[in-house]
This record gives sequence, structure tokens and C-alpha cells, in this order.
Amino acid sequence: MANKQRGFFSHETLEKNIGWMIIASILVVSFAGLVQIIPLFFQHSTTQAVAGVEPYSPLRLMGRDIYIREGCVGCHSQQVRVLAAEVQRYGSYSIAAESVFDHPFLWGSKRTGPDLARVGERYSDDWHRIHLRDPRKVVPESNMPAYPWLEKTVITGENVDQRMRALRKLGVPYTDEEIAAAPKAIEGKTEEDALVAYLQGLGVGVRKAKQAEQAKQAEAAKKAAQSAPQPAAAGG
Ligand code: HEC
Repeated sequence: MANKQRGFFSHETLEKNIGWMIIASILVVSFAGLVQIIPLFFQHSTTQAVAGVEPYSPLRLMGRDIYIREGCVGCHSQQVRVLAAEVQRYGSYSIAAESVFDHPFLWGSKRTGPDLARVGERYSDDWHRIHLRDPRKVVPESNMPAYPWLEKTVITGENVDQRMRALRKLGVPYTDEEIAAAPKAIEGKTEEDALVAYLQGLGVGVRKAKQAEQAKQAEAAKKAAQSAPQPAAAGG
């Protein structure tokens, strides 16, 4: 029998020793993961807000927290995928730079109900209020739970300024004045007001910025066409 000399860092050591195999696999997978993940912390496309995305107003911020508290994310995603069917149904697909002010993000992974990333301004405020109090009133076959208490609960004494300060630590550019004015801005509002304000803003800024950009481009193209020299008459 050939008594082959083998080094410690050989395939044979790994393949015959499950402990080393596991450790080496974890090392390789972790390294490969970091190579994919770390650049994302430094890329503008994932760290800087795209045109139209603004930090949440105090009322919308409270609405977002109610959305989290009530577990809406368990049935609703907020990410339109890059699939033709989704883009046709919901609107333009979601990009990372839309979520830079979301801590934590609410992309979700389950769709018992429809995606909400583009729901802003699709319905009236009144529709949302009726729907939240009793979804069956507007969508008879709906199995979404009713949230009738939101209408009756006033958001009082909420630490909205502290929430904003915490978000500022995470990079949301709230100014001191905005934070100081926040408690006043939500005074007397109900949880339903806040949640509806939150829903009505979803996807709106990005859509409007995109439309403005397209209008500008169309305008520029029109001007260019007008000022271009007319083609000379044939046979001149
Ligand atoms: C048990 C799952 C479930 C939960 C939890 C849930 N929903 Fe829904 N939601 C649905 C379903 C199903 C529909 C589609 C039928 C309908 O419109 O009611 C829906 C529809 C909606 C719509 C209309 C979307 C559209 O494009 O037509 C909105 C807005 C909405 N939900 C908001 C919320 C909010 C806000 C919460 C948390 C307070 C919530 N949902 C919690 C299941 C759920």
C-alpha cells in the first residue's frame, strides 16, 4: 500500500473530517457573503434617497409605527418585483434607494393581501377609513381583519420627537426645528389619521418625481425637434 504523504491543507483532510469540512464551508460562505454585502453599504444607489423620497412627516411616522404594531406587514409586502405582471398590476418596481429612510424596512415576504408599495393616492382617504374599520364594507370577499379601534384612539403623549431623534442617529436628516415642531403636528390626531396618512404617501413621491422627469425630457425633445433645421426640399 502506497503510503502517500499528505499535507494538512489537502482535500483529503477536509473530505475525511466533517468538523473541518463544516468550518471551511462556513468560512467560504461567509467570505462570499461579505463580498456581496459590503459594497452595498457604500453604493449611492442603495444609500442615497432617490428623487421624490423624503423623510416621513411626524404623522406618517406615527402611522408607520402603527402599521408595524398591527402586523400589517404579515399580510402585505411593500416591494414590487421586477416582473412584468407585478409592474402592470402595481406600478414601477421597487428600488433600494426608496427605502433609505425606513428603519426597519417593511418589504415583507407574504402577500395575503396586495402589495402596498404603490398604494398611495390610489383610493380616497374616506375609502381607507371605511376599509380599515370594516374591510367587508368595500370589498365583500375580503378576509382582512377590521381595525375599528384606530379611529377611536387619539395619539397622545407619544414620544414622536424621541423617535425622530433616534432615526436621526440612523441617518435620517431631520432638523432640530422639525423635531421640535413634531409633537404639535400630531396633536389631536387619531391612530387612523396617522395610518391613512402613511398609506396615502406610499410610492407617491417617487412616482411624481419620475413623472416630472419624464415631462421635462418630453419638453426638451419637443424643443429640440422645433429648433432643428427643416429638411431641405428634395431636388432643390
Ligand atoms: C390577514 C391578512 C391581512 C392583514 C393582517 C392586513 N391586511 Fe390589508 N388586505 C388583506 C387582503 C386579503 C386585502 C385584499 C382585500 C381588501 O381589499 O380588503 C387587503 C387589502 C388592503 C388594502 C387595499 C390594497 C389595494 O391595493 O387594494 C390596504 C390599503 C390594506 N389592506 C391595508 C392594511 C393595513 C394598513 C393593515 C394593518 C392595519 C392591513 N392591511 C392588515 C389582508 C390583510
